Amino acid sequence: MDRSPPNTSPDRRVFIHTLGCQMNVYDTGKMHAQLARDGYVPTDDPVQADLILVNTCSIRERAVDKMHSALGEYRRLKKGGQRVTIGIAGCVAQERGESLLQRYPDVDLVFGPDGVPQIQRLVASAVQGQRVLDTELLELSGYPFVSDVDPAIDKVGAFVTIQKGCDNKCTFCIVPATRGAEASRPHREILAEVRALVARGVREITLIGQNVNSYGLKDRGEITFAQLLYEVADVPGVERIRYTTSHPRDMGDDVVSAYRELPSLASHLHLPVQSGSNRVLRRMKRFYTRERFLEVVAALRTARPGLALTTDVIVGFPGETDEDFEATLSLLEEADFIGSFSFKYSPRPGTPALKLEDRDPVPASVASARLTKYQDRQRDRSLAWHRSLEGTIVHDVLVEGPSRHDPGVICGRTSQHAMINFEGGLEQIGSFVSVRVTRGFTHSCRGEQVHRAGSGSESDRPGPGAKGPPARPPGTA
Ligand code: SAH
Ligand code: SF4
Ligand code: F3S
Repeated sequence: MDRSPPNTSPDRRVFIHTLGCQMNVYDTGKMHAQLARDGYVPTDDPVQADLILVNTCSIRERAVDKMHSALGEYRRLKKGGQRVTIGIAGCVAQERGESLLQRYPDVDLVFGPDGVPQIQRLVASAVQGQRVLDTELLELSGYPFVSDVDPAIDKVGAFVTIQKGCDNKCTFCIVPATRGAEASRPHREILAEVRALVARGVREITLIGQNVNSYGLKDRGEITFAQLLYEVADVPGVERIRYTTSHPRDMGDDVVSAYRELPSLASHLHLPVQSGSNRVLRRMKRFYTRERFLEVVAALRTARPGLALTTDVIVGFPGETDEDFEATLSLLEEADFIGSFSFKYSPRPGTPALKLEDRDPVPASVASARLTKYQDRQRDRSLAWHRSLEGTIVHDVLVEGPSRHDPGVICGRTSQHAMINFEGGLEQIGSFVSVRVTRGFTHSCRGEQVHRAGSGSESDRPGPGAKGPPARPPGTA
């Protein structure tokens, strides 16, 4: 990594199109941070850009399709005479490497997630006219996690990576191939980044990794994930902590206890279950049963009453029967998910599930019908949950920004991750406010502030993460 001071000449502009998960969002920030050292200023208009990067995702075929259509657009700009260097970064770059350079002769640069720490060198070579390919996976010991903080960060919440890669082998998943083996980031680096973010006004930290519960377990001398939660909670200025993604198999008692002891740990957890059928879970190699999943959920809710759960679900996994699918539907009710990301199984190159797919495919029309049914059921449940908040006063709304649609309306999230829109001023961004929920919709609520800034101290009161106030039942009053 180049440690030279930032060059601030605003003569080069970079546009990064980000697809995929939180890891890619975070990597995009790190790319901006490092490119800023070479004078690259972010732009949100590709027509203005000297450098366009597509940070890609290969989790499902649709994500790959999005890459192709984005590239089509940017390559047209280049064909139309724009002087621009085009690069493909991220998981598809890692997976398909050289073949992307062959397919797209006007693409200058292809590099995987492990190329992010070397982006300055890679881009410099490409700008000089070389065609650059870097898909080498780096050594895990001493992995160079990038410490620069995205200079453009002006948000209330920020991601902080705590590990790279994944050592699991879920049979449907391409991530172990695109991101390589798991490595934990030293906790001192994590805490330094948390402090740097808090100094920029960030109040909510989301720790990210593909399997955060296994943090530190493979490194002698490293602290555990639960210990890391306590350390992050101790950083002054951290008001709320979230993390993603957690694997149900690895959710330990120490993390469950953290829900009892750490008020700044949010009352929401994203815990991907994938299926409610033990038969399917076995074929997915998830290494937990439906019963074990429900036990973990019960323990978490005992430790933190009112804990809101969201999940990921795959329908149409090879061999999934109607009965298996019904088990997933009934789990939605039993675990009481307030939201789900649900997907149709998408066969991925090189994954073990391809063999099952050959033997036992689920017809596309059946998978589509199941997906629609699951999503309808989840929508009903999400709506019912938001409606159940109507009339209550939520004291833990952290204001995130203006509403996208209504001028004069701002939005924030509760500890349980409910999104609430209400009238307020932009000066309230970053503060905790109390809001009476007036209406619940499928994806959000509408409300009105109970106390406005200046009319009392309510809007500045410490949030649930502050050291002072005792833990109270999350969410509602
Ligand atoms: N590490 C996380 C998830 C990473 S991928 C975990 O273990 O839960 C995000 C989600 O994409 C997964 O939870 C899964 O639901 C979905 N997914 C992954 N591979 C898929 C595939 N081949 N087809 C459809 N959905 C998939
Ligand atoms: Fe993929 Fe499983 Fe790793 Fe998640 S835990 S990234 S689903 S292999
Ligand atoms: Fe996609 Fe890579 Fe994330 S495949 S989901 S961007 S780890």
